[in-house]
Amino acid sequence: MANDPTTKTLAELGVSESAEVSRWFDEVRAQFAAETSVPADEQRWEGLRAAWLGRKSGVLTRITENWLKTSPATLRPAVGKSLNELRAYVEGRLDDYQQIARAAAEQAALARERVDLSLPGAVRPIGSRHLLRQTFAEIERIFLSLGFTVVEGPEIETPYYNFEALNIPEYHPARDTMDTFYLETPPGAPQRLLRTHTSPMQIHIMEKQAPPVRIIVPGKVYRRDNPDATHSYVFHQVEGLAVDTDITFCEFKGTVEHFVHEFLGPAAKTRLRPSYFPFTEPSVEVDASCFACGGSGCRLCKFSGWIELFGAGMVDPAVYGFVNYDATRLSGYAFGLGVDRLSQLKYGIDDVQLFFQNDVRFLRQFP
Ligand code: DAH
Repeated sequence: MANDPTTKTLAELGVSESAEVSRWFDEVRAQFAAETSVPADEQRWEGLRAAWLGRKSGVLTRITENWLKTSPATLRPAVGKSLNELRAYVEGRLDDYQQIARAAAEQAALARERVDLSLPGAVRPIGSRHLLRQTFAEIERIFLSLGFTVVEGPEIETPYYNFEALNIPEYHPARDTMDTFYLETPPGAPQRLLRTHTSPMQIHIMEKQAPPVRIIVPGKVYRRDNPDATHSYVFHQVEGLAVDTDITFCEFKGTVEHFVHEFLGPAAKTRLRPSYFPFTEPSVEVDASCFACGGSGCRLCKFSGWIELFGAGMVDPAVYGFVNYDATRLSGYAFGLGVDRLSQLKYGIDDVQLFFQNDVRFLRQFP
């Protein structure tokens, strides 16, 4: 306030009667009203409170000092009354002002932190089991329902379990067909290798467990193949082994047919073709009627009407000799399912490398 009247005493202002007292108070009140007419914010409220109600130098303190305390006794009641009214007015208005300022601050914060609920949420893609895992699960389901147990075995083996005890002696040509990864071993230590098939678990199980045996062994196997559409260094098998006192070739065939029906659908026909594996005798390749053409011949089955699924056979009695099973009393069958191949056939996947590239555009197709 230029020329602020509250810095002067009433005498200095020339006040001698109570009407003039009210006039000066009105002026001060008008001044206050003007200062609080601008939009409220909390900072301005703090400033106003200090300027008007501050104990040391606020306007009301000044009026108390300069007008009230120095007023002649005749004017004092009027000054006191007006001062009280002014104080009530100022305090009340500053309270309002503060509330308006707070509300404005809150509104501003809400506007700043506003969440647009109409925006789409952050979508977290949900993964799914890899197609190979799904195929493992499907194979396991089928054999579990037949009373088989699922067991797993080591991926690092010795030549004894991977070859010898499976009736593949050192210079047997079958070793050449399984290009083997040998591990570096200290001189004098037994040789170690990455298993080339899941068959070694046949031996481990029969060493540990007395017959009857009905197991399947899902797992990874390794071969030094050049990667292409049907080969990979690491691939997947499910080994199967059933040994008991009265297992016939007929039971074997029935089991295989049941598996093919369950896995490929009831329309699939099964054919057993003579084959050779050192650890089975007789050995067979299990073929299924081509599900692409239904058997009439197409590119998938190379116009034969049949598709080769997996190898199997009756356990060669020579194998029982390695695990102290009585070959005169026992019989059984074994099979080795190539999981990658079975997945490729069932889901029409023309390149096995797709299983290992983990391209989501591929994976997403098998939720
Ligand atoms: N181990 C064989 C391989 O990887 C597959 C196989 C064939 C397993 C016949 C068996 C079987 O148990 O009876 O080539």
